[in-house]
Amino acid sequence: MHLDGLLRGVHLFAALPPDHAPVWAAWPRAGGAPVRCAIGWRAGRITWLGPERDLPAGLSAEREWTHAGHWLTPGLIDCHTHLVYAGNRAAEWSQRLEGASYEEIARSGGGILSTVRATRAASVDELVAQSAPRLAALCADGVTTVEIKSGYGLSLPAEAAQLRAARRLGEQQRVTVRTTFLGAHALPPEYAGRSDAYIDHLIADLMPALQAEGLVDAVDAFCETIGFSAAQVARLFSAARAAGLPVKLHAEQLSNQQGAALVARHGGLSADHLEWLDEAGIAAMQGAGTVAVMLPAAFYVLRETRLPPITALRAAGVPMAVATDCNPGTAPMASLRLAMNMACTLFRLTPHEALLGVTRHAAAALGLVDRGQLALGLCADLALWSINHPAELAYQMGQPQLHARFFEGQPDA
Ligand code: NIG
Ligand code: FE
Repeated sequence: MHLDGLLRGVHLFAALPPDHAPVWAAWPRAGGAPVRCAIGWRAGRITWLGPERDLPAGLSAEREWTHAGHWLTPGLIDCHTHLVYAGNRAAEWSQRLEGASYEEIARSGGGILSTVRATRAASVDELVAQSAPRLAALCADGVTTVEIKSGYGLSLPAEAAQLRAARRLGEQQRVTVRTTFLGAHALPPEYAGRSDAYIDHLIADLMPALQAEGLVDAVDAFCETIGFSAAQVARLFSAARAAGLPVKLHAEQLSNQQGAALVARHGGLSADHLEWLDEAGIAAMQGAGTVAVMLPAAFYVLRETRLPPITALRAAGVPMAVATDCNPGTAPMASLRLAMNMACTLFRLTPHEALLGVTRHAAAALGLVDRGQLALGLCADLALWSINHPAELAYQMGQPQLHARFFEGQPDA
């Protein structure tokens, strides 16, 4: 067997379901020292993995590395970001610290709409330049796949510019970018008082044009009193599904709009935020296989007190992902590992759940079946860590522990 690359001596966190995980790749494990493993790939796909002692004789590799004692995980996946935008909202954050609420600021024309004004005024080049450091920071923390939403343009040219910037970032940096159309994020000023007409415009004009340009991998919306109603989101989702696009939803963040059940009814990939999720929503998500995406940074920044129903989600077997929500309003943060830490500390996920949340379950939240786990045939997107135990990935804050990163089988320089 000939390989492009072979890594030896490492311990594998494979992120496989318990009934698939071989003992040498399982964590948490019953006890004993972790097994020295090896993993090899060809043409960007994993073609061999297992205990190092089982490596077949006569196996050759173009490049070979030995990193005894290091842990290897799938490349991390940030499945919910708004990282392409212009400007920032530090002034608004200060106002909130003095007592103004997120909703009050939004209703007075600030919030999302203030970032819309800055983003509309920026060219694609400027959007790329301002957003590139945020993406680079994610990658430096082990991310190899990132979702990027539109939603700060809210007009055809401005949404297209945001999504083109996202695509270009994916060409410039060594990371897979998945783009999500979030035209139904806020009502633009030119549609004030005409939210149904704006939804019609998204369905008739923006969504088809952006899809035709290859800029849309999924469709999202903000179902909220300061966003769009469940009925409006349902119309958008029906059109998206008819056009062959998967859907996901900002649901139950600030109030219960029955958004989780709505997105589940449309076969949604994920429902995100979920602080106000109820039992009916959980049951609907369980039935549809919709992933629950936890966004603890937004909870932290908004100083929320109502926790998402983690215990009930866990009991129902709903897969939980964890993401940064990187955005200028509620999550000015570009570290997926800090999001893991917050998911554990604030939401009481276990470190193991947090790691599944940025690997296997994050892939599912994006509808990607070729990554997020270490298994034969899957993408050789890998993160190698200087840690003694995988729990440290969620435990440590602000410590760079990435030892090496492989994107489609190629190591970072
Ligand atoms: O996920 N909730 C709506 N959207 C973003 C915030 C966007 C903003 O405030 O700019 C979120 O929290
Ligand atoms: Fe968001």
